[in-house]
Amino acid sequence: MNIAIIGAQWGDEGKGKIVDLLTEHFSIVARYQGGHNAGHTVIINGKQFILHLIPSGILHAGVTCLIGNGVVVDPYSLFTELDALKAEGIRSENRLFVSDRAHVILPYHRDLERFAEDNRGDRKIGTTLRGIGPSYEHKLGRLGVRIGDLSDSRKDGFLAETIKRNVAARNQIIHDTPLDWTVVYSDLLSTWTRLSPMVKDVSEYLDFALKEGKRILFEGAQGTMLDVDHGTYPYVSSSNGTVGGICTGLGVSPRAVEGVLGVVKAYTTRVGEGPFPTELSGKAGDELRELGQEYGASTARPRRCGWYDAVVARYASRINGLETFALTKLDILDGLKEIKLCTSYRYKGKTLNSFPANPAMLSACTPNYETFPGWSRPTAGLREFEDLPDEAKTYIKRIEQVTSVPISIISTGSDREETIILKDSIARGWLE
Ligand code: IMP
Repeated sequence: MNIAIIGAQWGDEGKGKIVDLLTEHFSIVARYQGGHNAGHTVIINGKQFILHLIPSGILHAGVTCLIGNGVVVDPYSLFTELDALKAEGIRSENRLFVSDRAHVILPYHRDLERFAEDNRGDRKIGTTLRGIGPSYEHKLGRLGVRIGDLSDSRKDGFLAETIKRNVAARNQIIHDTPLDWTVVYSDLLSTWTRLSPMVKDVSEYLDFALKEGKRILFEGAQGTMLDVDHGTYPYVSSSNGTVGGICTGLGVSPRAVEGVLGVVKAYTTRVGEGPFPTELSGKAGDELRELGQEYGASTARPRRCGWYDAVVARYASRINGLETFALTKLDILDGLKEIKLCTSYRYKGKTLNSFPANPAMLSACTPNYETFPGWSRPTAGLREFEDLPDEAKTYIKRIEQVTSVPISIISTGSDREETIILKDSIARGWLE
């Protein structure tokens, strides 16, 4: 079966670990959206790898990794990541391919993003400043440069003309530090020699692979609540990290996606601005941040922390058709006196069970909590469900009940081995 792994909160759910855990059962791992704004952390035998643009499957020799047309690619950042992997002895030749239709992130995208953020006043999004948003804007505005265009070295060709026009437009907005289009252009052309062996029609590659019966793992980045359509707009990223993004971002049929697994933390975090109903302020939030070491894998920014939100989880389940969850970072709750679980919101005196679209309305929602006793015996490192403290089992069972999504995997630590894959679970069935 081909499986999609999707973030069910605001990103940073621990997708990297879950993708890594399951990769040995797949031939191909494919990314379909986002860019190097993502930070997928994988720890193998105590060694930490943080992947931004390259699919987490690269850490498994023999697995082919694909970057689809729906991803935005900064070639320089891709090279930096490749160099770092090479330094660790991980080879990517002939097993990492980039779609010829993926859009390129250029230096002017980063400049435009910083300018936009600086001018948003108190409505900043808190973006990663990697040029992601402006690159997608150019894509939709039909002003973008695609990876396949980088082979065009004609002085008056499409690439040169597009860069010239986009740099001129950028210089009209940002006056004090003008860019020289010829420098942007020649720098970009110089990337082609290294890029070209990786460039492919990824949709066609996947079509052949599907016909040969190869198993594909679709790796989502960010999370449902950061999806440009279904997330907490405008406080979102610029792509579709939800399941629909797989078809448009890789050029595959919906029939290619045979199973969907959502990844959720045992609590909630968010980086950047925007409403977050179960956010813990002050000491309680700081404590959870320190326990979970909740700092951005890409930008090192402190993450905002709060309790598990079942309204969000149910919403993610509906949008993505989640069949099962991987519940991560359970061990971070070890030793807490009590744990809260938000089952619905209260808005203007009424109970709200589904997620509202309007950010002002969401900001005015207060969570309805159920409170659970914590557990004193640690869950850290446990590998069998039966070994969990009773209080942890109760909390997990209640999460399943209030979301109507069964849990297949429980992560009890950052290492690959520190994981429970439940007997008779949906995910276990997929892997057999
Ligand atoms: P952008 O993707 O850089 O445009 O940022 C938009 C919003 O998405 C900001 O709040 C970022 O902090 C957030 N964001 C983007 N990528 C990730 C991620 O991989 N994990 C968590 N938050 C992210």
